[in-house]
Amino acid sequence: MPEQSVSGARFYGDLASWWPLISPPEDYEEEAAFAARLLGAASIPVHDVLELGSGGGHNAVHLKARFAMTLVDLSAEMLAVSRELNPECDHHQGDMRTVRLGRGFDAVFVHDAVMYMTSEIKLAQAIATAFVHCRPGGVAVLVPDCTTESFEPYTDHGGGDDADGRGVRYLEWAWDPDPHDTWAVAELAFVLRDADHTVRVVHEQHRWGLFGRSVWLGLLEEAGFEARVVIEETTEDRRPRELFVGHRPLVPSPAVIDGRGTRATKTVADLGPRTAVPSGVVLPSEMVSRMRDEESPRDHSPGSACRVAIVGSATAAVRRSRPASSSFR
Ligand SMILES: C[S@@+](CC[C@H](N)C(=O)[O-])C[C@H]1O[C@@H](n2cnc3c(N)ncnc32)[C@H](O)[C@@H]1O
Repeated sequence: MPEQSVSGARFYGDLASWWPLISPPEDYEEEAAFAARLLGAASIPVHDVLELGSGGGHNAVHLKARFAMTLVDLSAEMLAVSRELNPECDHHQGDMRTVRLGRGFDAVFVHDAVMYMTSEIKLAQAIATAFVHCRPGGVAVLVPDCTTESFEPYTDHGGGDDADGRGVRYLEWAWDPDPHDTWAVAELAFVLRDADHTVRVVHEQHRWGLFGRSVWLGLLEEAGFEARVVIEETTEDRRPRELFVGHRPLVPSPAVIDGRGTRATKTVADLGPRTAVPSGVVLPSEMVSRMRDEESPRDHSPGSACRVAIVGSATAAVRRSRPASSSFR
């Protein structure tokens, strides 16, 4: 049996040292700069930023120029990779659904690791973690690779070599076996060449959560955030991502009854006039009953006329050809 990391994926476990060759830090520069703009747009000054699911620290290596970064990941091996790159950042091992650091941050960032939330209850737990660590007036920025609306099956390939003679090439093939549930699969085949020219092949399947915009916004509002969608600006040749931004109000809504952001009396009116009501999902009891710990049937409610803030558009410049949804930059 191959050794498994705590997150169940060898690529975040015993093979984590290959991560910089699979998804190099420099590929994150533009995306991190865009995220930094949103993180910095809180209604309080933003200095301390928490990243949940920080992986090899490839966003943090850019974000740390502007913010004091605290990094949380499930995998000790990925944290070790990140510590090499970001020795000045604070690292903690933890699950984004349950970790509680006992302190607040001006902003919380959750990048592609949020794709590992494959049911609404898991996503709600991760959002609750973001909320409890976010100071009043702070902001949370969550960046799934795709939503139900934007997911398309794709294939992708990539990889690189290091100065010591190690190299990786990978093939990524993603599709959605059942459009009625909340996850898709990616088959990942990696060919790894060691410095002594030994070559091995590793295959693993990853499951990625897929949720509609209305679900994202509903869960953020449910946690206590004021939620909106921002369309990414990118020069990469791919569909821009949708970033989900939650502002934690300076003064909590009377409906927020405890520090976990649980709402007791949320009604349709709480969502305000800017939000189209996703049919059948807004009242909390209905929302809770739809959540199941197992990957759940997908919400097909026509709630996508939600808070979409277009802050920019994709430009024509092509840096690199990419499918819309690839997890690896
Ligand atoms: C694609 S990598 C993230 C790469 C990251 N964006 C970077 O800058 O290097 C996904 C990461 O999510 C982490 N992860 C998966 N499930 C998690 C969870 N429940 N809590 C925290 N981290 C998780 C994995 O350990 C892995 O490091």
